[in-house]
This record gives sequence, C-alpha cells and structure tokens, in this order.
Amino acid sequence: MADFKTVVVKTDLLVCGGGMAACGAAIEASYWARQHGLKVTLVDKAAMERSGAVAMGLSAINMYVDLNGGQNTVKDYVDYVRNDLMGITREDLVANIARHVDSTVHLFEKWGLPIWKDKDGKYVHEGRWQLMINGESYKVIVAEAAKNALAETGGQYFERVFITHPLMDGDRCVGAIGFSTRDNTVYVFEAKATLVAMGGAVHVFKPRSTGEGFGRSWYPPFNSAGSAFFTLYAGAEMTCQEVRFIPVRFKDAYGPVGAWFLLFKALATNAEGKDYMVENAAELAKWEPYSRAKPIPANLRNWLMMLDVMAGKGPIYMQTADAIQRIAKESPDEKTAKKKLKELESEAWEDFLDMTIAQAGLWAATNVEPEVKPSEIMACEPYFIGSHSGASGAWVSGPSDLQTDATKSDYFWGYPNMTTVGGLFAAGDASGASSHKFSSGSFTEGRIAAKGAIAYVVDHNTAPQIDPALVESLKAEILKPLSTFEANRGNTTDADINPAYIRPRQFMYRMQKIMDEYAGGVSSQFKTSGTLLEKGKELLAFLRGDAAHLGAENLNELMRCWESVHRMHQAEAHVNSIHFREETRWPGYYFRTDKPALDNKDWLAFCNCVFDHATGEWKMIKRPVKYLVGIGSAAK
Ligand code: FAD
Ligand code: ADX
Repeated sequence: MADFKTVVVKTDLLVCGGGMAACGAAIEASYWARQHGLKVTLVDKAAMERSGAVAMGLSAINMYVDLNGGQNTVKDYVDYVRNDLMGITREDLVANIARHVDSTVHLFEKWGLPIWKDKDGKYVHEGRWQLMINGESYKVIVAEAAKNALAETGGQYFERVFITHPLMDGDRCVGAIGFSTRDNTVYVFEAKATLVAMGGAVHVFKPRSTGEGFGRSWYPPFNSAGSAFFTLYAGAEMTCQEVRFIPVRFKDAYGPVGAWFLLFKALATNAEGKDYMVENAAELAKWEPYSRAKPIPANLRNWLMMLDVMAGKGPIYMQTADAIQRIAKESPDEKTAKKKLKELESEAWEDFLDMTIAQAGLWAATNVEPEVKPSEIMACEPYFIGSHSGASGAWVSGPSDLQTDATKSDYFWGYPNMTTVGGLFAAGDASGASSHKFSSGSFTEGRIAAKGAIAYVVDHNTAPQIDPALVESLKAEILKPLSTFEANRGNTTDADINPAYIRPRQFMYRMQKIMDEYAGGVSSQFKTSGTLLEKGKELLAFLRGDAAHLGAENLNELMRCWESVHRMHQAEAHVNSIHFREETRWPGYYFRTDKPALDNKDWLAFCNCVFDHATGEWKMIKRPVKYLVGIGSAAK
C-alpha cells in the first residue's frame, strides 16, 4: 500500500462542507473573524462551485419571508412550518432563520443571481414563500462569494478532501480528520470550534433507479450522511431522525413539481383524471388538526396520492397540458394567447433545465410536449434532508432572545446553533427540527451558526489538545480498507467475491435492501411496523459487524467505504427513532401499520437520540415540544 503523508492544518473555526450553509458560514465567519484576528478554514469533499444539493442549479428560492413587503410576518412562517411538520418543530430555530432570511436573498441578488421581476420591478413569486430565479449558476455565484470572503480575510479552503471523523479534546470538539480524494494525504484539521454543514443523506434506502439509472435520485448522490455521522460520533444529541422526506417528483428523472403546483396551478390526478386531493378528502379527518392547515402538509398531500396508487388507480399524472392551455386562454385575444403559450412552454422547460437537466432530457427522449400531454409523477425513495420538508439533524441551541421562561431550559444553552457538544455547531441539513429552510434559509442558518461559533472561539481561545495517539489510531482506521483489499485481493479470481472483505458497493446494496424491506422503503409502500423494525435492527447489527471488513481498491473506493459507514449510522438512527415513536405522525413519509394513528397525548414530542461509538449503544430521549408565543412580526 502506498504511503500516506499527514498534513496538519491549524485554524480557529473549521467549516466542514462547502454547500449553502457552509458558504453562508464562511462569509459571516470571515466578517467576524477579521475583527478578532481569527482564521476560518473550509473543507469540501467536492468543488464548491458545483457541490451539494444546488450543484445543478435551482429554479426557485423557496424561503423568502418578505418582511419589508408587509404581507407576511415571522409568525406566519413559523405557523406554516409547524403545521407542515404535523406539530413537531423548534419554533425558536425557525423564527431565527425567518427573521434574517430576506437579507440573504438580497445578497444573492447583489452577487448576480437573476431573480425574476414583473413589469413593476417586483419579485415574481412561485408561491407565497417562493421566488422564481434563473438559477443554473446559483451555486457558482454563492461559492465565488464565499471563496472571496475567505481570501480577503486570510482564510483557507480545501476541495476534494473527504471528512471522516471529528477530533475531540475531552468533551469538546476540536476539529476533524479526513483524506484527499486525489492524492495520498490525510488531513488533520485542528480548530477551536467546528461547524458541520455536510448536508443530509441519500442512498440509505434502495432507490427507484437501479441498473442503468443508478445514481439518479432526487437528492444529490454526493451527500452521504457525513453530517449525521460526524455529530453522532462526537456524542451530540440528534433529533427527528425518524422524519425522512419523500418528495413527489416527475417520474424517473425526479424533476421538481413546485412550479407546476404553485406557479402554473396544475392539478395532479389519478389515471381516471380525478383529483386525489378531492376524491380522498375524507381521509384528512384522521389527521386533524394539522390536515386543516393551508397548505395541507406535504406528507398528507403525498398520502392522499398514495391511497390512489395502492388502490390501483395509477399512473398519477401532473396535468401540465391542462394548466398551460388554461393560462394561455386567459389572454385577451388569440395572438396574445399564442405568445403566452410559447412563453409558458419555455418556462416549463427552463424549470427543469435550471435544476434537473435529466428531466428535460427524458422529456425530449420520450417525445413529451408538456403543453400537449401530461407527465407521470411518483413518490421518491426516502431522503434525510433537515432543510427541506424533512427535519433530521443535530439538536442545537436556539437564540437567547427568542426563548420564553418555558422554553429556555430545553432549547437554550449558550451559543446559537451549538450542538450539545462544546465547540460543535451545525447548520442546514445538519441541524434538526427546523425544516423549510431550503437554499436561502440554509445559507442564513450557516451565517447564524458561524457568528455563534466565532463568539465561542473568542470565549474559549485556547489551543486544542489533541492526543497524537488518537490521530494515529483514527488514521489507521480510516486507511484500513486499502490494506484489507490489498492483502486479500489475490485470494480470489473475482475481486468482488472474497471472504476477507466486502466492497462498498455491495455493502451499500445490502444496507439499502434492509432499509427498503424493513424500514418502509419504496417496495414496502413506505410501511413498516415494530416487528419489521426489530428484524431490521438485527440485520443492521450484522452489517455493522461487516463494516470492519470493508475493502477499497483505490482512493475513490476508500471514499465510498466511508460514505457507507456514514450512511449506516444514519440508517441505525432512523430505524431506532421510528421504533421509538409509537405512532404514525407523517403518513405519506412513513406509516407504522401497528400504530396507525396520531397520538398527540403521548407523542407531541421530539424523539432524540445519542450514540456511544465506544459501545455501539443508542440512547433514545423524549424531549418536549414547546411553542413560542408572540413571535415578533418585524425583523430584528
Ligand atoms: P448542501 O448545499 O447539499 O451542501 C452539502 C455540502 O457538504 C456539499 O458541499 C458537499 O460536497 C459537502 N460534503 C458532504 N459530505 C462531505 C464530507 N464527508 N466531507 C466534506 N464535505 C462533504 N431550495 C430552494 O431554495 N429552492 C429550490 O428550488 C430547491 N430545490 C431543490 C432541489 C433538489 C433536487 C434538492 C435536493 C434540494 C433543493 N432545495 C431547494 C433545497 C436546498 O438545496 C437545500 O436546502 C440546501 O442546499 C441545504 O444546504 P446544506 O448546506 O445543508 O447542504
Ligand atoms: S424543490 O425543492 O424541488 O424545489 P418543489 O418543487 O417540490 O421542491 O417545491 C418547491 C416549493 O413549493 C417548496 O417550498 C414546497 O414546499 C412547495 N410546494 C410544492 N408543492 C406544493 C403544493 N402542492 N402546495 C403547497 N406548496 C407546495
């Protein structure tokens, strides 16, 4: 096996990840770091211009509260998020992001992001909270600003460095260890505070796309539970690990539906052309009071659709043609109607070209003219994305000024967005119970967390003490798959089949099959039960045993090995949490057949968990949901 060199990087704040939250963190941290003579360092496993969920671009900014426009208040946004998550949300965290998010959007525009404007120069809304953008280069623009901020303040960024583990000094997180995916280098980042923003997780569950389509998923294949593993391994308390997200998307290429539902006001119907939201409306009575909210929570919209799928009324269609023709017909005369039709047609294609190019390719390949015929939609496999309509992530401290006497004992411990581990902060998909942040809110939360982290460094400005033996043992553990493969590859004629090791692809297939069949994936119609989950846990324990025998042929496969280990921890956290919550709260995301109803008496609560990596034990914790009263309506 080739030798690896070790590079030690000393910094004050380490930002792990280079996505929306990390870019927000880099910019805000650089501002405060300059004032205190501190250094900020960012590490991304990919290249920041095209990394994370926004890599391909986006067609909308999904969180804009427009406080100055006077139409909405912070409380309105909090109400929306609480209802959409069936009552389970940290209002202090959501409100903190909502009161600051508009300024983030204005920065994006200043840096060159084209936001659609109407003839009066006002932003074009997709829906109440969403703005339309020409967003193919969204991430390029944001990454450039982050890189500039770091460069101007003596900061540093590393790309194509994969973070594997946190480094600890007793109970305090003091940086991270990882390796280059391009050359034989192990990186040791020593930091006084660490901010985790490595996104959520995909491919924990078996995807719908297999074989030639493998890798096509809604959530980006590169986000592989790095955040969840990092915070779990550091001993941080996690929350909402049961709250997965199942998006409904255009079938096979996972194109977005938001513009169709909100901007074009299209209907989705079953194969008979019936609107399942109307046909199955009686079902909503079972999920009150949340089902009375407007909009009806995303999981319930899914659920009413799934009822039709299970009743054999598929395929389900987005009625694109009806919507386009209806809008065009609203024009005053035939000539304007024709022009409008062309405009709508191009907007429909741009929606996909801006953020899910594969869907435009699939439309072209299957002769779809959206103004002529409808397109199939379907429920995707489950994802972990705390920044969207899921909620999984670390349990973090809220801001001091939004607490009430009733909330502060549970929701506040000093620095905004610090996890329960000293010096370890989380934002975006990495922080939990604060859904519907999306791209703009994640960036904003990165800013909030970074400001908190710099305040922590100022208060704890001591060099970390990192045991060299710890670093050596982690380095050996990280590189072990390479030597396992090298030592045993000659023992069989097919490198994939070897009793001494398991390759990461096979490991991932096995994990996905367990999750699919026992934890309510696509092939189980998103249903599970206590007994299925117990069996799933038994099989995941065998998987964990085999994780010690992962084998890697090269650096790329070494990254795949560690992605697998990260995902396995996300899988365990998920299975334990769905098992712990003895009710069904989010039908449409998952359904517990043995506990088929809401139980607000016992389960209007957060399911939290802590992992002990030394023993492999999980501890489950119930925490109270406490609502804030009188959230201010103006930005502070
Ligand atoms: P990301 O932006 O995904 O960043 C994660 C970062 O972590 C990446 O840089 C990645 O390379 C890095 N990373 C991962 N693992 C490691 C590791 N082990 N070591 C080092 N680095 C690592 N929001 C909107 O506002 N409008 C939309 O239209 C919209 N559409 C969306 C469409 C899709 C398909 C998806 C998936 C999301 C969409 N969102 C949208 C939501 C938005 O993209 C996310 O909310 C946001 O990107 C979350 O920010 P983040 O920083 O937490 O994660
Ligand atoms: S995206 O992340 O890929 O852009 P999507 O296109 O589904 O998501 O939705 C964009 C925004 O519209 C999100 O804020 C989502 O919650 C909202 N949305 C999508 N469909 C509906 C609907 N039918 N009713 C209300 N809001 C919706």
